[in-house]
Amino acid sequence: MLVIVRTEKLFDWLSRTRRTVFLQADMKRKATASPRWRWKFGGFLLMGTLLTLFMLVHLQTLFGPDASDGANTVPVVTSFEGQQFSLNRTKSKLAFMFLTGHNMALDILWNQFFEEVEEHEYSVYIHARPGYSFSKGNTICRSFINRQLNNSILVEWGEATMIRAERLLLTEALQDPLNQRFFLLSDSCIPLYNFTHIYNYVMSSQKSFVDSFVDKNDDQYNILMEPVISEDKWRKGSQWVALTRKHAEVIAGDSTVFPSFVDHCKKINLSDNWKGDPMNNETIGRHNCIPDEHYIQTLLAVDPIYALRHCLRRTHP
Ligand SMILES: *[C@@H]1O[C@H](CO)[C@@H](O)[C@H](O)[C@H]1NC(C)=O
Ligand SMILES: *[C@@H]1O[C@H](CO)[C@@H](O)[C@H](O)[C@H]1NC(C)=O
Ligand SMILES: *[C@@H]1O[C@H](CO)[C@@H](O)[C@H](O)[C@H]1NC(C)=O
Ligand SMILES: *[C@@H]1O[C@H](CO)[C@@H](O)[C@H](O)[C@H]1NC(C)=O
Ligand SMILES: *[C@@H]1O[C@H](CO)[C@@H](O)[C@H](O)[C@H]1NC(C)=O
Repeated sequence: MLVIVRTEKLFDWLSRTRRTVFLQADMKRKATASPRWRWKFGGFLLMGTLLTLFMLVHLQTLFGPDASDGANTVPVVTSFEGQQFSLNRTKSKLAFMFLTGHNMALDILWNQFFEEVEEHEYSVYIHARPGYSFSKGNTICRSFINRQLNNSILVEWGEATMIRAERLLLTEALQDPLNQRFFLLSDSCIPLYNFTHIYNYVMSSQKSFVDSFVDKNDDQYNILMEPVISEDKWRKGSQWVALTRKHAEVIAGDSTVFPSFVDHCKKINLSDNWKGDPMNNETIGRHNCIPDEHYIQTLLAVDPIYALRHCLRRTHP
């Protein structure tokens, strides 16, 4: 509706400017233009300029980087005197967020992967053990150098520290407003497609890619999580996800589901030489829960606005 009205305004304006041009020619012929004509001409010029500005601003909001919740895909390219100037700073980026202990075993593959990519098209964030930094000495992948988080924590497998680290990565990656898709990856993840393919694939969708399902055999839900998490919202799925900025914000900003996981989703501590069935031992009655394969899935199922129907669901066979 608005666009139609504005287009009409444009035609209106165009016909008026044409009139202005005629008036100008007329004025030239007459040599002595009356002040009234000059005043009118100035008025038209001013109105034309304002309308053009208005149209530009409108186009910007329609097709600019923040249109359709910030997921633009088209880099703005302007041509000037035969030269191509790319406004690279406006292009959406993919954020690659790695969870690793220390070195990245498959960095040779990632190096190849990032080699074909312009630096303004992606960001890398690595959560490694505190104090570890990536340098030429321990990785051949240039994109990993100095990309470790400086506020990393000690992560224990199966503990809430794992999802805490995920949230640290998301919080850091969200600092860059150009990051529009967020990939959570492990040190053993490898790219199966080239960057262009992945970029176009995720950017063409407004949805997150989250593996999420209800596991009938899963008894990790803890009734103490009520009322924050009701049992029908309990989900399971792969830890490795690709998120839109909206979902990344929901997870990084979550202040209800996360504390509930910290308090009530804990793995059972077994001694190193443990072999038997924990249910027949003194561990009976204690609850075993591994947070990282439930947290994001359950949070997105609990959140009434960003519920998982906004995600593409893919379950493993
Ligand atoms: C911007 O992008 C173009 C093409 O994608 C590239 O040729 C150019 O070097 C980039 N400029 C900067 C400053 O990164
Ligand atoms: C961590 O600090 C180092 C040194 O100040 C810096 O080079 C690096 O980029 C920082 N890491 C991140 C993810 O910002
Ligand atoms: C990336 O992969 C796509 C399809 O998988 C292919 O068409 C394209 O040529 C590849 N691009 C490069 C730079 O290798
Ligand atoms: C398991 O052991 C770790 C230390 O090894 C401890 O911090 C944690 O609280 C224990 N968890 C439970 C559920 O007892
Ligand atoms: C219970 O577990 C401990 C090790 O944590 C083991 O030494 C003990 O034999 C187990 N008891 C039974 C009844 O299996």
